Amino acid sequence: MIELHNLYGVVLIFLVGLISYAIWSRLRMPLEYRQISSHVPSATKTFWSEIQLSWKMAMFQPKDILPFLLELTKIYGSVVHFNFSSRSYVLINNKDDLKILLSSTQYIKKGPEYDMLRPWLNDGLLLSSGQKWQNRRKLLTNTFHFKTLGMYNISINKHSRKLVDKLLNASENGNQEISIFDYITLCSLDMMCETIMGTEMNAQEGKSVEYVHSIKCACKSVIERVFKVWLWNDFIYRISKSGQRFFESLNVLHEFTDNVIKNKRALLNRTIIEKVQSDSTFEKPQKKSFLDLLLNVLNDNPDQMNDKDIREEVDTFLFEGHDTSSISMTMTLVLLGIYQDIQVRIIF
Ligand code: HEM
Repeated sequence: MIELHNLYGVVLIFLVGLISYAIWSRLRMPLEYRQISSHVPSATKTFWSEIQLSWKMAMFQPKDILPFLLELTKIYGSVVHFNFSSRSYVLINNKDDLKILLSSTQYIKKGPEYDMLRPWLNDGLLLSSGQKWQNRRKLLTNTFHFKTLGMYNISINKHSRKLVDKLLNASENGNQEISIFDYITLCSLDMMCETIMGTEMNAQEGKSVEYVHSIKCACKSVIERVFKVWLWNDFIYRISKSGQRFFESLNVLHEFTDNVIKNKRALLNRTIIEKVQSDSTFEKPQKKSFLDLLLNVLNDNPDQMNDKDIREEVDTFLFEGHDTSSISMTMTLVLLGIYQDIQVRIIF
């Protein structure tokens, strides 16, 4: 049994460690960050309030995050500063302020949280910067040109119809509440996998369970890591349950993308050979995915992109695309449900 004075010793060492860490991390914070709280309202004016807020946020479930941030803006106004475990954040909840920030070409450096996605997305468009980002962006511009996006309408409509059928079925259960987000996430995954990789997932039909589970699991683990400060350390994260789940999921996701790329590449090579052999100038119209377009870019610029680059872009687009579209589709349906006068105008 631990004796009482040993217990005091442990508590004392923990407190000294905590205070030293807090002083050290504050001193290494750039001066302008430390001074932000004197320019805008701050939710963490004192060190004690910072500890309280950091602890509170570390205990959050994902559903608690948005209401809490909204609450802060209600209390402090549309611009709020807070320190979260010695990192300085400013929350902006005003469209005009946001417009200034988002159109700035100066303030584009991403926060350290983005690095948590690096094992997954590597140096794809979202995480790369500087010259690499500029070269890549130039190379890929045509692949998301407005005209190119139009050819995805057929797939998007097909999966939307399935979603409507699923929602109609679910609504037949009378007044029972359902989470439309779960239905919409599967639909958006089907859309993304078909338009980005050219692969039918049929997630809405209950197929590709392992892939669907892995993508959900990886996203959940990244969010968990952002808020649970003890998981910021790479070593601790790797040995934690959340980190293990994350890396297991990545194996599934990366293996899947690698296989799809390998198969598509083989198909493309076969098509090129057949075309040369038949010496035909007639080109069959093809349904092209983002990956097909990338492989063409690779063919035209072999010195600028390799298979690894292709994988990181496919992973990036899948990650960026499925989550953002699920949320925007969900919010659109929720708002149409609330504002039925507008719903009527859309339907008729
Ligand atoms: C309503 C839906 C969407 C919203 C609100 C949205 C929002 C955003 C935002 C805010 C960024 C900037 C992120 C940052 O730099 O930190 C971004 C970047 C990006 N998004 Fe989206 N997005 C949406 C849909 C999509 C879709 C469907 C795709 C792909 C299929 C996609 C692919 C990307 C990529 C590749 C980047 C990185 C671009 C770069 O840095 O050059 N997004 N998106």
